[in-house]
Amino acid sequence: MDIVRLTAVSKTYGTGSGTVTALDKVTLGFAEGSFTAVMGASGSGKSTLLQCAAGLERPTGGAVSLEGKDLSRLRESVLTRLRRETIGFVFQSYNLLPALTAEQNVGMPLRLAGHRPDGRAVRAALSAVGLADRARHRPAELSGGQQQRVAIARALVAAPRVLFADEPTGALDSASSRNVLAILRSLVDDRGQTIVMVTHDPVAAAHADRVVFLADGRVSGTLDNPDASTVAAHLTALESADPAPRGEAALRGEAALQGEVTRRADAVAAGLDAAAGGEAASC
Ligand SMILES: Nc1ncnc2c1ncn2[C@@H]1O[C@H](COP(=O)(O)OP(=O)(O)OP(=O)(O)O)[C@@H](O)[C@H]1O
Ligand SMILES: [Mg+2]
Repeated sequence: MDIVRLTAVSKTYGTGSGTVTALDKVTLGFAEGSFTAVMGASGSGKSTLLQCAAGLERPTGGAVSLEGKDLSRLRESVLTRLRRETIGFVFQSYNLLPALTAEQNVGMPLRLAGHRPDGRAVRAALSAVGLADRARHRPAELSGGQQQRVAIARALVAAPRVLFADEPTGALDSASSRNVLAILRSLVDDRGQTIVMVTHDPVAAAHADRVVFLADGRVSGTLDNPDASTVAAHLTALESADPAPRGEAALRGEAALQGEVTRRADAVAAGLDAAAGGEAASC
């Protein structure tokens, strides 16, 4: 069964002559327990696809359904709750809060949802990414690969039905990348996690069950059981057909979204700091 389904999803930004069509009637399903890689040139709509599928952006046309529920019919507050309970999101730049330890960062989604973080769930999420022994470390005391694993643990702590990852290995060296990809693969194989991952790297895409290629906001093809060399050949063909990447504005869109997540998390961190200050004062 498809846990996430996009039907003729379009997303345009701007108006008049400045209109950009980021997604153009995309119809796609993501089966429960499957690992999908999304690839395509810069500006082809990969991040927009992920954000629409995750309910972070509302499409301009078409429908997204999550576990059979049509997201466009939900009120914002209901959508936010469904997203918190159903979706995990991992960014290329980790987005950890530097003042918080690994375990506090991992507990953040539970705090954002208004719950007291459950220590057992936090420890289980850190163990799942091999970082049980780094719980008290702050991001600056962790390597890039370890920070990304903390971000994955944070995305997993609320047991999401779908994990979306936008270039999760984009900032990592090849050894750390392999490690992160092996963790993602084992989440699918051992727990039946559904994962949708954007990547530019054919080696990363080869860890998935299927690759979806985007070009100019449309699905230009899919590849089952991909291997790195076949993926690379598809990409080369796509890039020669689309010589005008639109990366700069794409980066702006991602920066805006990340800014929003950081602002929300900063607000919670400020609350945590105040609480910690209060505890210190009462000692
Ligand atoms: N917030 C926004 N406002 C205006 N245009 C946007 C916005 N976000 C994305 N776009 C445009 O939509 C198109 C698709 O952007 P998207 O970020 O989805 O691309 P991408 O495939 O993820 O690219 P990259 O590989 O560079 O991350 C781009 O042309 C981009 O300029
Ligand atoms: Mg992107």
